[in-house]
Amino acid sequence: IKRIGIITSGGDAPGMNAAIRAVTRSAVTEGLEVYAFYRGFAGILDKEFRKFSFSDVGGIMERGGTILRTARVPEFKLPEIRSKAAQNLKELGIDVLVIIGGEGSLTGGKLLSEEHGIPVIGIPGSIDNDISFTDMCIGVDTCLNTCVEAMQKLKDTASSHERAFVVEVMGRGSGYIALASGIAVGAEAVIIPENPVDFKAIAERIWEERQRGKINSIIVVAEGAASAYTVSRHLENRIGFETRITILGHVQRGGAPSAFDRLLAARMGHEAVKAILEKDFGVMTSLSRSNMARVPIEKVLSEKKELDMDLLKLSKILS
Ligand code: F6P
Repeated sequence: IKRIGIITSGGDAPGMNAAIRAVTRSAVTEGLEVYAFYRGFAGILDKEFRKFSFSDVGGIMERGGTILRTARVPEFKLPEIRSKAAQNLKELGIDVLVIIGGEGSLTGGKLLSEEHGIPVIGIPGSIDNDISFTDMCIGVDTCLNTCVEAMQKLKDTASSHERAFVVEVMGRGSGYIALASGIAVGAEAVIIPENPVDFKAIAERIWEERQRGKINSIIVVAEGAASAYTVSRHLENRIGFETRITILGHVQRGGAPSAFDRLLAARMGHEAVKAILEKDFGVMTSLSRSNMARVPIEKVLSEKKELDMDLLKLSKILS
């Protein structure tokens, strides 16, 4: 192995830069060359890349987003487009491709590998924490901190006006962000795609808490479960007082990575290079009970990550 390629792909996540830095510095230290492609798979198709030295990745760890930029490339679902990408990688002498991204990006990598024999290594980067066989993905912790900070501010104004706030967070298919941030701010209710919503029960609970003297309410909803507008409409009719809506949106994907995400990215980036040196291809780096581990990408993609439903119980007990 002489030359590795690296991309960030799909939705960005805070900490991706720290992962780029860790892969580059670990690889260069081992005498490998690093070709960094821009805009994910699109940069491979356009042969838009830069060779990275040790110092090229200085000062990027603390920056949000990804300096390599990223893209969702729907045409990568087409076999002929993947052939083109594989041909470009071979022409450029790339021996292995490191993919930092979510499930869609790992799927692209798996297909490149199966169809064209391109060795790949995955690093899970997604704020949704919806990738199986890793306790955490890069970006989740920073995203949760952003959500908690915002919701804490909303609690201030909610208390002043004795209002209920419906806060919509990201998570098309997973309620992790909603649940984890909801617990961290003591939300009255958390609505997630994994659990059917009972508006009547939520309204009754908020009403009872009001009777007990609580002056603010936060209801967190994952975008994949319902829109904040729908939730607000259902609740206002039942609870009989004003609600306000906040959709946190893409603010959740930005910002300087937390210490946790920097450390996770550093460990995963280094682990990816260790896997390359051992020729352990087709694996994703993973955090398993605080340790670095590797899981075959095929296995990762074969199972949907289960949300820990004990967290849902916990959120109900504690609020
Ligand atoms: O990164 C995953 C995710 O944040 C989802 O939770 C969300 O629905 C989606 O990305 C939004 O993606 P885009 O930026 O392409 O609209």
